[in-house]
Amino acid sequence: MDKLIIEGGVKLKGEVTVSGAKNAVLPILAATLLTDEPCVIKGVPNLRDTNSMLKILRALGKIAEFDKGRVSITAGKTSNYIAEYKLVSTMRASFCVLGPLLGKLKKAKVSLPGGCVIGVRPVDLHLKGIRALGADISIDSGYVIAKTSKLRGTYIYLGGVYGSSVLATDNVMMAAVLASGKTVIESAACEPEVADLAEFLIKMGAKIKGHGTPVIEIEGVKHLHGATHSIIPDRIEAGTLILAALITGGDVLVRNVQYQHLGALIDKLSEAGAHIERTDGALRVKGNRKLRSVNITTLPYPGFPTDMQAQMMSLMSVTGGISVITEKIYPDRFMHVAELNRMGAHIQSGAPVMASDLRASAGLVLAGLAACGKTSISRIYHLERGYEFIEQKLINLGAKVWREKE
Ligand code: EPZ
Repeated sequence: MDKLIIEGGVKLKGEVTVSGAKNAVLPILAATLLTDEPCVIKGVPNLRDTNSMLKILRALGKIAEFDKGRVSITAGKTSNYIAEYKLVSTMRASFCVLGPLLGKLKKAKVSLPGGCVIGVRPVDLHLKGIRALGADISIDSGYVIAKTSKLRGTYIYLGGVYGSSVLATDNVMMAAVLASGKTVIESAACEPEVADLAEFLIKMGAKIKGHGTPVIEIEGVKHLHGATHSIIPDRIEAGTLILAALITGGDVLVRNVQYQHLGALIDKLSEAGAHIERTDGALRVKGNRKLRSVNITTLPYPGFPTDMQAQMMSLMSVTGGISVITEKIYPDRFMHVAELNRMGAHIQSGAPVMASDLRASAGLVLAGLAACGKTSISRIYHLERGYEFIEQKLINLGAKVWREKE
């Protein structure tokens, strides 16, 4: 396994381009199971998670090629309906093949996703929605087994104790598009990645309204055809790069950004006194000001994203004053706290630290960029799950970053 070494204290300068959104591409790849016709997905980031999802599609009978950001799913019947544990356990998002398999084949056998360091990660809302559409569901030896003679549109309230669920909304939407009749999903997730999935389904011939709002209406159709789609930019990678510029006191132009997807983050950073200038399709970030501490509470979109919590904690560790960070989506999502404390909480000195999940590892990278001296981050495969070419992007901005064997 590799570790990442960061020689901190360098002000990042230059331009960087954000890649396609991991959390949009994963459900959109799953949605190709809903048709036997060719699909082309562009702007796909080359990540561990992307390749994991492609492995699953191939195991389910698809012919999938991935080259230079472009995935071609050529005609290949969705033949197998079983998503094996060995594949699903590596990535929770694989669970969103349940909806499309049920929609296309009227049956599915999908391994329950494991928990992970940020929490138990239940799937009760996924099953509630699929059951409401008329599927018989049983759990056997760690697998969800779902089958139906016919899916029927219905009204589904999909809110959970922590609010809406992104992948549950994705799963239910992908099962409902081929159901007979109208489905209304109340308390649907509003994340831009859910809306991007809906846009792809509409290009395939689905009838969907209200995506991006808490109420999504789906009129079932008989058949979906192939489509071509370009993935939206990754707002979490964009946010991480914006914070990298701020935490190092740099001056960076972050390209390929949809400003409206970053409202809560930019609002908080403005409250902290950050200087962020909007240009067409890009943001100019100058870390030339001492930032104030601000309080953060993570919420479902459009609230402050939980996927930016660790990164924001790193930034708040180097501003003066006290910042209170409340995690309302995953109460256990604080694995990075101990690692940041090892760096002196004010991140005065680098230290050997361990990445625990995708976004915690991003938070540690930011801390390493700000710290004086060397930080070594082990288990960086977490980082590779969600940040395309992140080392090269940081090196291009002047960061002293390299990889060493553990
Ligand atoms: C998606 O996960 C993202 N992953 C996560 O990003 C992100 O942190 C999360 O949404 C919240 O924004 C992908 O899109 C692939 P949820 P998801 O269902 O859909 C509870 C990253 O770093 N819940 O929206 O699995 C759940 O426990 C990853 O890229 C239920 O109670 O998250 C959590 O507290 C990490 N029952 C809350 O809802 C359910 O059936 C939100 O979870 C499902 C979820």
